[in-house]
Amino acid sequence: MKGQILKVLRQQNGSVSGQELCQCMGVSRTAVWKAIRQLQEAGYEIEAVQNKGYRLLAAPDVLTEPELVSRRRTEWLGTKFYCYDEVDSTNTQAKRLAEEGAGHGSVVVAEVQNAGRGRRGHQWSSQGGTGIWFSFILKPELMPAQAPMLTLVAAMAVVKALGRLPGIEPLIKWPNDVILNGRKVCGILTEMSAQVDYVNYIVTGIGINVKSQAFPKEVALVATTLETAWSNGNQKREDEEPLPVRSLLLETVLEEFERYYELYMQTKDVTLFLDEYHKYLANKDKQVKVLDPDGAYEGIARGINGNGELLVEREHTMVSVNSGEVSVRGIYGYAP
Ligand code: BTN
Repeated sequence: MKGQILKVLRQQNGSVSGQELCQCMGVSRTAVWKAIRQLQEAGYEIEAVQNKGYRLLAAPDVLTEPELVSRRRTEWLGTKFYCYDEVDSTNTQAKRLAEEGAGHGSVVVAEVQNAGRGRRGHQWSSQGGTGIWFSFILKPELMPAQAPMLTLVAAMAVVKALGRLPGIEPLIKWPNDVILNGRKVCGILTEMSAQVDYVNYIVTGIGINVKSQAFPKEVALVATTLETAWSNGNQKREDEEPLPVRSLLLETVLEEFERYYELYMQTKDVTLFLDEYHKYLANKDKQVKVLDPDGAYEGIARGINGNGELLVEREHTMVSVNSGEVSVRGIYGYAP
């Protein structure tokens, strides 16, 4: 109910009467009053004016359920939010919830991850208040081999969402990084539970570095934050506009993910947004080093194919590189 109250308060510029809120929610005045008091205790500045009603003056930068429900504009993604102050990893928690029956489109969000995970067993630094750490539970009808493309769907969603911010020009480093000014601002980790020919569920986890944090030594040189790019881009904006709060950024990613997911599910590959993907592909026409377990080689990345594989031109032959098999090191900006 707190989320619905916040939503109504956000939709109204002026104040909303207690009576209106009771009618919208189908609850008593006391229940509304209690919910308003709890929101105030959680840091929302809500003005209560006699005979006029309630007005939202300011909101904290939090990723709680009421906050996310109040911002939600998607159709099926985020029908249920699981929000935590601290978990080991939102991907791990999403897998537990999926095993317990959590539905398609559930979103798991945590303020802190004490065992955040990256690809290939790397850690993902996720301190409180500094980023957006979240995972989607998806239960599509897919063959297991098609699931890794959801990482590309998520990367498209993140570049589109961040790219809506004035002065921010993100790119994708295939397959799972989003970069700003040559440094990593976001990582994506897709995992699944499957049988040979059947996907039980997929978890796509996204980590976006928003504010500066003490990055571990090994990533300090390659990582960046949205806030850094935002302040560097200040001259491109008219006034000293603050960076939007994390809940708004998250909601934008959900909207974009839903859009690209629908395109993906039409063909169960990435052909419907291939051209658009190429516009954001930082690796395109760049020298890359493919760390294939059968031996590393270099070539020029020419783009991706409909299955989301990287096409690498190597001594006049085109090799398609599968994201699950190899790691690709770019000769630009940073090497992951
Ligand atoms: C990578 O770049 O190696 C992938 C990083 C993925 C990090 C996100 S944060 C939310 C979700 N939970 C995790 O433990 N990992 C992903």
